[in-house]
Amino acid sequence: MCGIVGYIGNKQAFPIIIKGLKRLEYRGYDSAGIALVDGDTKLFKKQGKVSELENYAHNYNTEGTIGMGHTRWATHGEPNDINAHPHSSQNGRFVLIHNGIIENYAKLRERLEDVGYVFKSETDTEVLVNLIEYIYEKGDMTAEMAVRIALSRVVGAYGLVIACTSEPNQLIAARKSSPIVIGVGVDEYYIASDATPIIEYTQSVIYLNNDDVAILTKNSITLKNVKNEPLTPKVQKLDLEIGAIEKNGFDHFMLKEINEQPRAINDTFRGRISANLDDIRLGGLLKDMPRILEARRIIIIGCGTSWHAGLVGEYLIESLARVPVEVEYGSEFRYRNPIINKDDVVIAISQSGETADTLAAINLAKEAGALVLGVCNVVGSSIPRETHAGVYTHAGPEIGVASTKAFTAQVTVLTMFALMLGYRKGALSEEKYRALIRELVAIPDKIEEVLISNEAIKDIAAKYKDAENALYLGRGYLFPVALEGALKLKEISYIHAEGYPAAEMKHGPIALIDENMPVFVMAIRDSSYEKIVSNIQEVKSRKGKVIAIVTKGETSIHQMADFVIEVPQVIEELAPLITVVPLQLLSYHIAVMRGCDVDQPRNLAKSVTVE
Ligand code: G6P
Repeated sequence: MCGIVGYIGNKQAFPIIIKGLKRLEYRGYDSAGIALVDGDTKLFKKQGKVSELENYAHNYNTEGTIGMGHTRWATHGEPNDINAHPHSSQNGRFVLIHNGIIENYAKLRERLEDVGYVFKSETDTEVLVNLIEYIYEKGDMTAEMAVRIALSRVVGAYGLVIACTSEPNQLIAARKSSPIVIGVGVDEYYIASDATPIIEYTQSVIYLNNDDVAILTKNSITLKNVKNEPLTPKVQKLDLEIGAIEKNGFDHFMLKEINEQPRAINDTFRGRISANLDDIRLGGLLKDMPRILEARRIIIIGCGTSWHAGLVGEYLIESLARVPVEVEYGSEFRYRNPIINKDDVVIAISQSGETADTLAAINLAKEAGALVLGVCNVVGSSIPRETHAGVYTHAGPEIGVASTKAFTAQVTVLTMFALMLGYRKGALSEEKYRALIRELVAIPDKIEEVLISNEAIKDIAAKYKDAENALYLGRGYLFPVALEGALKLKEISYIHAEGYPAAEMKHGPIALIDENMPVFVMAIRDSSYEKIVSNIQEVKSRKGKVIAIVTKGETSIHQMADFVIEVPQVIEELAPLITVVPLQLLSYHIAVMRGCDVDQPRNLAKSVTVE
């Protein structure tokens, strides 16, 4: 959601922070702000994107070697200059940027108002900065003590950076449920909400854990927890290249990431499939294999696109491993008093590894005694650290808000998991196991073939760019793909779209079909082929427009559909990996033609760190 950048060292802080905020803009982008805190505090805040803040600040002196910056995704209070971070305290002693939500902010605000505090903004962050100042001014204490005492009184989540004007040359960072990474340079430290703004300066990082507080000067770091117990900072090496977070000649990150899928899938299965393609070994799960093999039920948890990948996982695991699976939204699971047994295995799927609802669901499952596994993309993020074991998707950094390569990488992991489980449990024959492994290894090349159709897909996009509604239909393994196709379209082009199991169309959506309604149908040669052909006819007889994703060489659907997009022949269990790609491209081109901001669609955030 919101993004945090901080710097303390000998370099000019402003350009480092601006650049870092631009790298983080994919997280949230309704307003931004910077504070330079050596000497008199200089505060710049602007509604809109980071470039607007940059243009505005250019009229002023931006010198300084200690500072902090923030991109905001509004939770409390609309996006405007006043609600933007950083927030300074009433008497100007503290300046704060904050990700997360202070849940008891209303009560705290009332108490502070009772003692004379007047609030300028509607944010929970201004409450926190004033609480810290109030505690600081009341007692004989250091800034760091005041921060710790205040944090022990708040309920909620925070990742924050704070400076105290009475104690210059120092920044304090703290974390609870909202990530903070510290980059370690030579006589300098960088602070950020994820590693992307840091990697061009240093590969050495310290991830803060929940309740950690770090006190930074340009040449020292002191780490402790909110209870004042000293901790030893653990410096880790980042395994990330700067090229991975740049567009590399593509117009948008989303297009780059769609095109990266053959590589992302390859990297995800590489090293996990034996050289002679006859076995799968998921190293991260080895020590827990006995418990995984004994699982009586698997519960998959995710949000958004990750939930769709989970649904593919359900179909795969039930069919190939014959273990019952439930797929849950993190937000529902955490609050609906679910039944969780000790012999359940829970798989949490998340690109960012930071989604608040998924994290809360994980904690619930852990408390109930289940084994909790993670399938995450961001190395070192919260979910891999909170789960008992897991498998990373090696998709590389995903910057476009609409998830693409993370989805196919997640489905790749779930496919390997289902195959491995099915084979080890004896539910899957050796022959089928090997055939599916060989097919998985062939998927990257098959996606390359789909990507070659980009121009033809663009032509189809041009025909439907002005649609107001769209329907996506699929059956079996391709029903989750229909959901994902619809989500991609609405996220980035703002066209209302719905995904449906094709047969369910008759129970509602069919009423919407007329000559203006594009219906995207997954109609490859699989076990549902005949049924889906009937569904296409039902749409056509109501004058709907059919755009069908078909198997190469298909002829009969060509005659029925308005347009077809061919994909290579694929074993049906692996069809989601191929069929989703033309849908991603269609959404991308439609959004570009509609003039939408593809990489930063309105109101959305890449990493949803609030519930
Ligand atoms: C947000 C993103 C989606 C993503 C979802 C879950 O809504 O915009 O692209 O699918 O969060 O995020 P996660 O990081 O947990 O996969």
